Amino acid sequence: MPVNAQLETLLNENADRITVALDALLPPVQGPESELMSAMRYAALGNGKCLRSFLVLQTGRLFDVDERALLRVGAALECVHCYSLVHDDLPCMDNDDLRRGQPTTHKAYNEAIALLAGDALLTLAFDIIADEQTHMDPHIRISLVGKLAHAAGAKGMVGGQIMDMYAQNLGDDIAAVTRMQRLKTGGLFQYAVEAGAILGRASTEATHALIGFAHDFGLAFQITDDILDTIGDVKKVGKAVNKDANHGKATFVSLLGLEPAKERVKILCEQAKGHLRIFGTKAEILANLIDKIEVRQS
Ligand code: IPE
Ligand code: IPE
Ligand code: MG
Ligand code: MG
Ligand code: MG
Repeated sequence: MPVNAQLETLLNENADRITVALDALLPPVQGPESELMSAMRYAALGNGKCLRSFLVLQTGRLFDVDERALLRVGAALECVHCYSLVHDDLPCMDNDDLRRGQPTTHKAYNEAIALLAGDALLTLAFDIIADEQTHMDPHIRISLVGKLAHAAGAKGMVGGQIMDMYAQNLGDDIAAVTRMQRLKTGGLFQYAVEAGAILGRASTEATHALIGFAHDFGLAFQITDDILDTIGDVKKVGKAVNKDANHGKATFVSLLGLEPAKERVKILCEQAKGHLRIFGTKAEILANLIDKIEVRQS
């Protein structure tokens, strides 16, 4: 099978398995909470690419980790990611109406429900990971919980989001924009590979290589998101475009220009591949994923 077709098949397989796992973890309920659960399902069971869980799965496979554990941690990470999108779209943040080709959660429900659905998805993630079904060793579970709290919180994704709220004031400070992108998007990508490494009891050397990969991959991913915000097709990206420019936000595209931003993505993708070299052919799928991100249109 050609490389691209093989990667597409693996990505689709992962998205299907994660959707099945999330469907079971978010059973519809009766009573006053039914609307909340319905909104959580709406936010989590969409047309997402499930890239973060794919990274958990593929890094875990480097160390032959049991797939049931990888799937549960991957599903938990998608809960955190989906919560971040629900809150990111709220009127008090990016004020977006379209996500994954559908009305955003606060448009389909209302702002209070969206806020609470996001809160509940975040806490559900910790519930899933802390459960014995994820791993029988409590030390592994604690380590997974602690790293996720760090990646999602003020020193990770939320820290990046607050910088983003003031991104119109960053001027041409490329160092500050880099830090913002690494935190708001890189945090969860870093967690994806750390989780695979924790579950695989990876060596320090292997873990550092994976974190290096995630740093470059995460930054390249966010720069391509900013590029798609400029030149993307709404139908393909499933969300509005020109949002960053309309809000006057500093991004790599606004600071460097489109072509230099693309060049930066290229360099980061090469660097990301460099970090994977120690894994040899075992990391082939991750290397192919990097190539896909470099030219992604959605
Ligand atoms: C969107 O992430 C938010 C960013 C960090 C750029 P994705 O592009 O992975 O979104 P979904 O999950 O596939 O919708
Ligand atoms: C969002 O970045 C990153 C998050 C932590 C949610 P953006 O605001 O650029 O993501 P989109 O473009 O709305 O998906
Ligand atoms: Mg945003
Ligand atoms: Mg946004
Ligand atoms: Mg964006």
